[in-house]
Amino acid sequence: MEGYKPYTQKDFIPEGLRREPTILVVDDDPDVCKLLSFYLKRSGCNVLVASDGPQALEAIKKAPFVDLVLLDLRLPGMDGIETLRRINSLKKAGSVIMMTAYGTMKEAITTLKEGAYDFVKKTQGFDDLRLAIRNALQTVGLREEVEHLKAKLGEQENLYPEIVSRSDAMHQVKKLIRKITNRNITVLIEGESGSGKELVARAIHHNGDYRDKPYVAINCAAIPENLLESELFGYERGAFTGATTRRVGKFEEADGGTLFLDEIGELGMGLQAKLLRVLQTKEIEPLGGRTRKVNIRIISATNQRLGDSVRKGTFRQDLYYRLAVFPVLLPPLRERTDDILLLAGFFLKDFAKQEASDVTRLSPGVEQALLGYDWPGNVRELENMIFRAVVLAESSTLELNDFPVFSVASASAPPPAPAPNTPVDPDSNGAVSLNEAEARAIREALRSTAGNVSRAAGRLGISRATLYRKSKKFQIELR
Ligand SMILES: Nc1ncnc2c1ncn2[C@@H]1O[C@H](COP(=O)(O)OP(=O)(O)OP(=O)(O)O)[C@@H](O)[C@H]1O
Ligand SMILES: [Mg+2]
Repeated sequence: MEGYKPYTQKDFIPEGLRREPTILVVDDDPDVCKLLSFYLKRSGCNVLVASDGPQALEAIKKAPFVDLVLLDLRLPGMDGIETLRRINSLKKAGSVIMMTAYGTMKEAITTLKEGAYDFVKKTQGFDDLRLAIRNALQTVGLREEVEHLKAKLGEQENLYPEIVSRSDAMHQVKKLIRKITNRNITVLIEGESGSGKELVARAIHHNGDYRDKPYVAINCAAIPENLLESELFGYERGAFTGATTRRVGKFEEADGGTLFLDEIGELGMGLQAKLLRVLQTKEIEPLGGRTRKVNIRIISATNQRLGDSVRKGTFRQDLYYRLAVFPVLLPPLRERTDDILLLAGFFLKDFAKQEASDVTRLSPGVEQALLGYDWPGNVRELENMIFRAVVLAESSTLELNDFPVFSVASASAPPPAPAPNTPVDPDSNGAVSLNEAEARAIREALRSTAGNVSRAAGRLGISRATLYRKSKKFQIELR
């Protein structure tokens, strides 16, 4: 080991390793130990030294972690091979490089078989050893990188488990909402109908610091404007004729937590002004009552492009900016084809279990059709389609004719595929015209939606009117 060049740090430590590696030098020759320590330390390594096998094992046990051991093959007492075996069984050291002054091929092979990373003859000069060290540390770096990536991946998969996805587009959405899950920032979720806006709003609330605080949702489109005001702001007893008790509004109910304002685009001009005031002052004024401070995270959602409504003059620009502090755009299902079969499988399993059905799979034809479809109703349409098919299925595999949209389209004179939630009268469809199957589907849909007529009709892909008519025909009682 003669003629050492002035090595630099780069000569020993590969770029992939972003920390100071710990190297244990084991040699009974104190000069070798000193020399190696000197160079390794100067290159930025943390160095431990031992002069025999037992000392080496002790050092490894005591150290938090040892990345690399440089182990002399000829040691007094416990020899190098035995020491190597014991080091490996500790499972604490990254790699071991064997060093020897007069090694034979046979010895080299034995040490490699015993799990050494490399074998270096001291007589070959320092460069061989340097390269072996560098390579071993590179492997350590790669291993750590893989662990790191695995952990990151696992973390992201476990985060927002209710949002089933594997597309890059949804991965980006999850990454985005992660930034605000624990923060009080006003979020606007935009996306087509059925793309999962409400699901995302709930996921934001339930996957972080807010999970134990109130989550209050209100659909601005479902309630007439004059009622919506008292829903949101509440009123004092006696505020108006008929106000016999005090009513707590949604703002107050959500205090400290999240308020989800669904279909915010439908909010009338009068309430837009009032909502703007709440956002500006963080105060609410119940009808007939005194103003009070509230601390609410507001998440709103719309399936219109709210910017367009601003341009058209139906939505206040100042309110738009206040609501869209953190905009989240949910891509439509047709733009994330990677998710389609994953979601279909997820719903299939879920409904099969719920309906005690033995449907387990989709036929290849169905998979193709699902992938090629345009999904105007997005995930909700897919969910309803699978539900209906599971309920009506005759075998354990869902076939094309379990899906009216596809079986109609594949007939010789195809009418256009029905848009979501437009009436599809099963009578016009040979595949499901059997009264019994229809009645069963309706009962199942009602049962699974706890008797909610609109949602049951949605699940079945028929209008409410049709559901009423059919129920009467089959003498199914509606609530
Ligand atoms: N990524 C997903 N994973 C699992 N289920 C999903 C996903 N996206 C949507 N869903 C389901 O699809 C249905 C529609 O989703 P959601 O109600 O959140 O849509 P939306 O965008 O609010 O629709 P709308 O604009 O009509 O109100 C729900 O039953 C929801 O649970
Ligand atoms: Mg919604």
